[in-house]
Amino acid sequence: MVKILFVCLGNICRSPMAEFVFKELVKREKIENKFYISSAATSTEEIGNDIHYGTKNKLDKMNIPYDYHRARQIKKEDYEKYDFIIGMEDDNLLAIKRIVGEDKERKIYKLLYFSPNVRDIADPWYTGNFDKTYDDVLEGCTLLLEHIKKIYNI
Ligand code: 4NP
Repeated sequence: MVKILFVCLGNICRSPMAEFVFKELVKREKIENKFYISSAATSTEEIGNDIHYGTKNKLDKMNIPYDYHRARQIKKEDYEKYDFIIGMEDDNLLAIKRIVGEDKERKIYKLLYFSPNVRDIADPWYTGNFDKTYDDVLEGCTLLLEHIKKIYNI
């Protein structure tokens, strides 16, 4: 079982989007039983809150299902629990490492690290552009899945 934790600042826009996009990708390939996928925040700002309506609208438009979600903050123990901890941008990776400590097992990556065009995923909380964020999240999730399938021989 490959365990992946997607992380953003608030855990209401980008990381739940990545969580449910990734869940849908593995479901379409009928390999969902090989994965445990979740998401979390670095900040305490939105703890307990549901997915942002902008993310829900975009997921609805793309026919990607989502279910019950309450934002939670990443905790130190998550580092041992997960195989991959996937942040959205450089600041995000720093905030993750402040909480979990040094990345001794090289588990922490930016989602678009796996793209030939490595870049941050813009925060739609500030940009209002959920379409652009979705395109980037889909690219990152697709390439992350390819990477994982290769290294785990799935
Ligand atoms: P997210 O977006 O990190 O993609 O979930 C944000 C959500 C809430 C806040 C910031 C970013 N906030 O400051 O409350």
